[in-house]
Amino acid sequence: MKTFLFPGSFDPFSLGHQDIARRAAALCDRLVVAVLSNPGKAPAFTTEERVSMAKMCLSGIDGVEVIMFEGLLVDLYSKLGASAVVRGLRGESDYRIEAEMAAVNKLLLPEYDLILLPCSTDMVYISSSTIKEVALFGGDISKMVNPKIVDFVQSKIIERKAEN
Ligand code: PNS
Repeated sequence: MKTFLFPGSFDPFSLGHQDIARRAAALCDRLVVAVLSNPGKAPAFTTEERVSMAKMCLSGIDGVEVIMFEGLLVDLYSKLGASAVVRGLRGESDYRIEAEMAAVNKLLLPEYDLILLPCSTDMVYISSSTIKEVALFGGDISKMVNPKIVDFVQSKIIERKAEN
């Protein structure tokens, strides 16, 4: 049983994330999408909201489960008996960050391994920060997130703006 782990903040879950999850799921038996619960990162969406959005976007893809995690990624990796972490790569700047995180994770856990999947070309410019910025000013995010979560993302961002 080959388990891959796809961790992230997913704040919110984008079509780019969905594309990576779908392609990674085809390469393993079980793909665990792990949503980071870290209040220190001050996400726009709660952990529960991010888990629920990821579940909605990935429903129907065989072998995929969504969980939340806190603490070290390598601890989750060991607990799940994962064979590799999967991350999407949009460009060179992503690569530098991923290489650095992988080096630290490998120091902590020598059997740790990483698979970097290049983003599909039409997803290269989609990021969670861009989605939040466009949504904040009422722009159209329908080409950036799954149709199932468009209204939720849009309304929560506006709601949170009004709260602050
Ligand atoms: O979507 P993100 O914010 O780029 O995901 C980053 C994530 C969740 C992969 C990373 O922050 C992480 O692994 N956090 C868990 C804490 C940890 O293990 N830190 C040491 C590795 S640098």
